[in-house]
Formats: sequence, C-alpha cells, structure tokens
Amino acid sequence: MKNRFENRVVIVTGAASGIGASASKLFAEEGASVLLTDIEDEAGQAVVDEIKVSGGVAEYMHVDVSDAEQMEAQVARVEALWGGLDVMFNNAAGVRLGGLLEIPVEDFIWSMDHAIKPYFLGARFAVPALQRRGGGAIVNTASIAGLAADRGLPAHVTCKHAVVGLTKSLAVDFARDNIRTNAICPGATRSPIMATMLDSAPKYADAVNRATPQGRACEPEEQAKVALFLASDDASYLNGCAIRVDGGLLAHSGIQIDWDEVAPERHGG
Ligand SMILES: NC(=O)c1ccc[n+]([C@@H]2O[C@H](COP(=O)([O-])OP(=O)(O)OC[C@H]3O[C@@H](n4cnc5c(N)ncnc54)[C@H](O)[C@@H]3O)[C@@H](O)[C@H]2O)c1
Repeated sequence: MKNRFENRVVIVTGAASGIGASASKLFAEEGASVLLTDIEDEAGQAVVDEIKVSGGVAEYMHVDVSDAEQMEAQVARVEALWGGLDVMFNNAAGVRLGGLLEIPVEDFIWSMDHAIKPYFLGARFAVPALQRRGGGAIVNTASIAGLAADRGLPAHVTCKHAVVGLTKSLAVDFARDNIRTNAICPGATRSPIMATMLDSAPKYADAVNRATPQGRACEPEEQAKVALFLASDDASYLNGCAIRVDGGLLAHSGIQIDWDEVAPERHGG
C-alpha cells in the first residue's frame, strides 16, 4: 500500500456518496486523517464507520457547502482534531436543471449558491489553514460541463465553468504559498444517482457509451484516484489544471464519420 497521505489531514465535502465517499476511503487507506462532510448524515457516518473498521482515521461532520459558517467550522474542526489541514477536496455541488427559457431565475441563483459558492467558501476558509501549515493542495470537482456545453443545462454548465475559472485563479494567487489548486472534470460517472439513470434509461446509456471513446461510463473510484493524484506530492508541478477524466469524450471532435460509407476506396471498404 502506498502511503502518500501519512500525517496529512484531508477534508472531503460531499463525502457520503459517489466520488466523495470513494476518495475518502482512498485517502484513509493511504494514511490520511479524513474529515468527511455532507448533509446526508447517516450515509456519511456509515462511510466513516467503514473506514474505521478498516483501521483508518476518519470523522464525520454535518456541513452544508452553501453555508459559510458551516464551511468555516469544518476547517476549525480539523485543526482542533488533528492540528491542521493539508488537503481540501471541494467535491459537493447541487444544481437545478432546466433550459434558459424554462428555468426559474431563482433556480439559477440557487444553482450558483450550491455549485459555485461552495468552491469559493471551501477555498476561502482552507487557504489560511494551508498557509499556516506551509502549503498544501486544493482539488475541486468540476465536470466536463466545465469545459464544454451539454444541451439544455445552462445553470450546470455555467457553474462548472466557474469552478474551472476559480481553480485557475487560486493556482495563480497562492502558488507562492506552496498551495496547488487543480480540478477534476468527470464525464458520466456511476455515482448512485447517475448509475440509476444509466441503468434505467438505455437510450441515455447508449448515448454516453457511443460518445465516449472508451465506450462506457466511469466508476467513482476512477475519479477519486485522479483527485488523490492531484492532491499528492506526485503532482508537485501541476497547478491550475482542469483534468478531464472522461474516457476520451472531449478528445473527440463530435463528428461521427463512417469512413467506409464516405470514402470506401480510401478505407478498404
Ligand atoms: N456523477 C457524474 O456523472 C458527475 C459528472 C461530472 C461531475 N460530477 C460532480 O461530482 C461531484 C460529486 O458528485 P457524485 O457524482 O459523486 O454524486 P453523489 O450524489 O453520489 O454525491 C454527491 C454528494 O454531495 C452531497 N451534497 C449535495 N448537496 C450538498 C450540500 N449542499 N452540502 C453538502 N453536501 C451536499 C450529497 O448528499 C452526496 O452525498 C459533484 O460536484 C458533481 O457535480 C459528477
């Protein structure tokens, strides 16, 4: 077992499920003391219990990522528990869906409060703690929607682009404090809600599989492993990056060409 996070203290938001739960377990496996925060208290505590049974060090705390006081309190909690903070994994977000002409304005504002503000707050309260420690890492969970637009999701696409922008801004502002900030940009990932959608809507699953060069959706652990890499010293010269973890989705031009049909003579058809 690698121990890249021995003697390191990590906060993971949205840690009760999906990518956050997976990352929390991996951080603990690699020696970190992990504060898991979420609004789903039972599920979050269950992940902590699982980590503890495996010999890891973890605690749970109720934190709504849109609430400044709670976001500040989680940093105070790790400093009280374990003496500092080394890694802030800003992972939780929530958005309301609806096209530009349909989404109520208050739902658009709600989305910014739950999918942009949490990353700002996470960094705002983590940076002073990381500075006190002499440096550290921030990892933000953005999305491929932070790099390109899906149809009909203006709130989601806007918020995730903002997360990528904030990631670059923090990277530039705090590099001299030895604080690196990077983002993962997941493609469709089988966290519980998405797995249900993929399994119950074959047309949606087909569309994801066809558009993705690797031909499948991602497992939460595959996202979490990249987040851990970005948080680790292995990524010591990566800063301000938005890493696509999308099975090659955005490497593709999007134009589906059947060369056998278009130019059979040049493609042996
Ligand atoms: N699953 C995907 O396909 C996918 C794709 C791109 C980006 N993402 C991003 O990945 C991140 C994690 O999502 P996931 O896929 O693991 O989903 P998930 O639903 O399994 O986990 C999200 C967790 O965040 C928590 N959460 C939601 N609102 C919160 C709030 N206000 N305060 C605190 N916690 C809150 C939920 O309770 C849940 O435990 C999100 O930022 C999401 O936008 C996911």
